[in-house]
Parts: sequence; structure tokens; C-alpha cells
Amino acid sequence: MRILSGVQSSGKLHIGNYYGAIREFVRLQEEGEALYFIANLHALNSVRDGKLARRLTLETAAAFIALGVDPQRAALFRQSDVPEIPELNWVLGTVVPMADLENAHSYKDKLARGASPDFGLFAYPVLMAADILLYDTDVVPVGRDQKQHLELTRDWAGKFNRQYGGQVFKLPKERIRDETAVIPGRDGQKMSKTYNNTIDLFGTDKEVEKQVKSVLTDSTPPEAAKPVDQQPLYALLKLALSESDFAVIDARWRAAGGEPKSHGYGAFKQALLEAFHGTFDPARARYAELMADQAELERLLTAGAQKARAHAAPVMARVRLAVGL
Ligand code: ADP
Ligand code: TRP
Repeated sequence: MRILSGVQSSGKLHIGNYYGAIREFVRLQEEGEALYFIANLHALNSVRDGKLARRLTLETAAAFIALGVDPQRAALFRQSDVPEIPELNWVLGTVVPMADLENAHSYKDKLARGASPDFGLFAYPVLMAADILLYDTDVVPVGRDQKQHLELTRDWAGKFNRQYGGQVFKLPKERIRDETAVIPGRDGQKMSKTYNNTIDLFGTDKEVEKQVKSVLTDSTPPEAAKPVDQQPLYALLKLALSESDFAVIDARWRAAGGEPKSHGYGAFKQALLEAFHGTFDPARARYAELMADQAELERLLTAGAQKARAHAAPVMARVRLAVGL
């Protein structure tokens, strides 16, 4: 089984990225041949500063490794190190209906939030389809927000195959885990760097504490039973705590007449902060080490790109033959 996924290097990674995506990447690298990449070409749509783009690319690579992606097992690479991607992007684009792109949710959402309608943003799903189709990918682990991109990828691959009368592309499937499909942010909307509602994986202790303390709660008094629906704090505790630790917190959350010190939202935020550090402190330390040795990161990424290009070669040979290049 060949597994592929990517994360844009467009900002700081947050726990939504971890529970929604990277944790799954780490699990899946045991199950097949995994390719994971830093989508730094996609990131150019939002990062318009070369120095920053370069730094974010390395930070994202360090984050993958620190969180458990093993560059010996998986191919870990930078999108921009694989020149076959922009080539396939072009070829694929020749069969992509404009209407598919005009109707894509992500494009419409971004415009609605004030992004400028640039070609790169418009064509984003085609580049993503090229990323996926380039390696005969079977499975693409992603968050729910990416589902439409996978549907479009299959549509276009199917259309291309029919047009050129053969099985040029393998049709990939998304893998979305239901329980973590949408991790809520501090305000209860989907956690996203665009909504400024994140808990960052590699922020300073102070920043993380501030973010955890600002998770939105209602005005239920400490001694009263708390509602569980639509409560980002409750959902985040469920995600971050072990089952047994969560059972204790859950009982307190639902209890009426409890001790205010241990049953108020402040105590629950403290529990979330402790779970965060318990889970991520080893990765945070490893991340700092990796960022201190960027030459080693560069070496790992270069080796990863070589592996990826070797997988891409037979697919590109089929594509070029089919279209007559
Ligand atoms: P952001 O929304 O912060 O810009 P990205 O779009 O770069 O995050 O997402 C990177 C990966 O993390 C994708 O696979 C995406 O589906 C996943 N992801 C991001 N935010 C969440 C979330 N709140 N819940 C689940 N998965 C998420
Ligand atoms: N669009 C994805 C995101 O925002 C990132 C991405 C780019 C990707 N190319 C991909 C994910 C290919 C999976 C496969 O999260």
C-alpha cells in the first residue's frame, strides 16, 4: 500500500494538525510505503516573504520528525524538490474543467474570508491532485476539510484515463478518521491558523499556557454540572487525555455540587495544559534539537526527495507516453 500526504508550510503547526493529520501519518508509516511532504509550493499562496517561507519549510519538516515521522521508513521531502510535480500539474490541468475549480469549497471559502482571487489559489486543487497522482498513491490520510480535493483528484484522474484510453493513473482514496475529523479551536470553530484559534505545538510554554487558558467556556458556575455539547474545552480534554484520565475529568465535569477548586473551568484548563505538556514535551525538545542542526535537516530532505522521485519516474513515463511528450 502506498500512502501519501502533505502539510502546507504556511504557519505554526497546532494540535489540530497533529490529531487530525500527523498522528495518522505516524501510524500509517508502519502499514505501507509512506511518502510525506511539506507543501511549500502550495504555501506560496499565503506566505509572501522568501525568508519566512524558507524558515517555515524547515520548521514543518522538523515538526514532522519530532512528532514521529521516521525519515528512514517514510520518504519525507519538500514539494519543491520534486520537479515532476509542476510538470504533472500542467498536464493534468489540461483536462480540468474550470467549473470544478470555480465551485471548489476551499476556493469559495477563502474568497469569502477576503483572500485575493489569484491564479495560484484557484489552481490549488490541481497542484494537490498532481501531488497525489504522481506516485500511484493508494491512500491519502487527511482531515475532513480535504475530502473534496480527493473527490476532484479522482474525477480528473478518471477523466484523464478515459481520454487517453488507459490506466495511466491509479485512483486514490482518502482516509478520514471520524473521531478526529474536525478538531475544535479555542473558540469552538474548526481549529485553524486562519481563524487565530489554535493551540500551537511548538509555541513557548508561556504562549501555550495563554492559548489553553483562553479556550472559550460558558458562564456555568464552578459548582454546577457543565454542559458537554458544543464545548471546545470538553472536546479538547477528550482528545488530549488518556481514557482513564478523561473518565475522572468527565465525572467532575458532569457532577453537580462539586468542590469549586476542582470543578471549575479553570481546573479543567489546567488539566488540559498538563496533558499537553505530558504528550508533547518530548517532541518539543526534539524539535528544538532539529532546528539547531539545519544542515542535517537539509540532508534528510534531500534524501527523501530522491526516494520520492524514484517512485514518480514510472508514473511520469506513462503520462509522457500517453500524451505524446
Ligand atoms: P490550517 O487549517 O491551520 O491552515 P492546514 O490546512 O494547513 O491547517 O492543515 C494541515 C493538515 O491538518 C490537513 O490534513 C488538515 O486536514 C489537518 N487539519 C488542520 N486543522 C484541523 C482540524 N481542526 N481538525 C482536523 N484536522 C485538521
Ligand atoms: N491541501 C492540503 C492542506 O491544506 C495540503 C496538501 C497539498 C496535501 N498537497 C497534498 C494533502 C496532497 C494531501 C495530499 O492540508
